[in-house]
Amino acid sequence: MAHFHPLTVKQIKSLTPSSVAITFSIPKDLLQTFYFVPGQYITIKKEVKGKELRRAYSISSSPKSDSITIGVKKIDGGGFSDYANTKLKEGDILEVMPPEGRFVFNTSSSAKNIAAIAAGSGITPIMSIAKTVLDSNADSKFVLVYGNKSYKETMFYTDLMKLQLEYANRFFVYFTNSQTKEENSLFGRIDVSTINYALKNKHKDVSFDGYYLCGPESLITLASNTLEENDVPKDKIHFELFTTTEIKEELPVTANGKTQISVVVDDEEFSLSMDKSEIVLDAVLKENIDAPYSCQGGVCSSCIARVTEGKAEMVKNQILTDGEIEEGLILTCQAHPTTPTLKIDFDDV
Ligand code: FES
Repeated sequence: MAHFHPLTVKQIKSLTPSSVAITFSIPKDLLQTFYFVPGQYITIKKEVKGKELRRAYSISSSPKSDSITIGVKKIDGGGFSDYANTKLKEGDILEVMPPEGRFVFNTSSSAKNIAAIAAGSGITPIMSIAKTVLDSNADSKFVLVYGNKSYKETMFYTDLMKLQLEYANRFFVYFTNSQTKEENSLFGRIDVSTINYALKNKHKDVSFDGYYLCGPESLITLASNTLEENDVPKDKIHFELFTTTEIKEELPVTANGKTQISVVVDDEEFSLSMDKSEIVLDAVLKENIDAPYSCQGGVCSSCIARVTEGKAEMVKNQILTDGEIEEGLILTCQAHPTTPTLKIDFDDV
């Protein structure tokens, strides 16, 4: 299981009035540990106001760089994003977990045409994917539809303009602003017509090898439905949910009674008793067991474990495939036990 490592904040750059890009230096001896595939995220652990917070942030930099950059948008309600935007300084040290995540673009040296649809901070992993696609082959193309309220609120705007200059005729971005009518931008929220305009009209001659969607659930649903209506096969559509809240949703109580649970983490086995109505990860963390987790909202994939005995049901799952669930994998932050005994293994995933 991966562990946290102290990394130094090398640079903090303001992206918009409410977001920053944070770049970490990666010491030579950790370069291998912090190797990543474009699209992946890191988890940061930080104590804020006496409470340990863990937050997952996608990487925006290219894997070719010797540092790692993330984009952090300030969310109402404080938490780490508030701290990062107002108090964090260059030279500070943060505890960071090595990159993980399944929303990835597997680099290939052959020409690839990729389309991406993103909204708000959902642009962050797309930045890394776009740089990689464009850099890997001189014939690759990248078309991006990117929605925001206004240019002022557009994260990585300057970097996107630089990419347009650097990769003229290969990188195309369709800014879509919902609150301001501005030059070189479409007006309104991203909708079926915006997607069709960019992909079916402006780039109708391009055959896309993959589609990457990143943003809130409503955007992912709209974009994937639109692509499927255009006969795009499901296996070409990749998506990452970006919630706009750091507040954990209330989970419904669905079962009564107790479960005796055994947990394997880092080759150690622990036993505990928990209510069936409780979430497995919450019960495990209460016992101070060092299980992996990040978002606690079913959005990342840090908390996956394998059920080796008994059963657990997930309240929400947008990450695991039906095959993986059949194999016994669960998101422990979304699962509660349904049998009197349950064995889970965080190492065997
Ligand atoms: S901790 Fe992120 S999905 Fe469970």
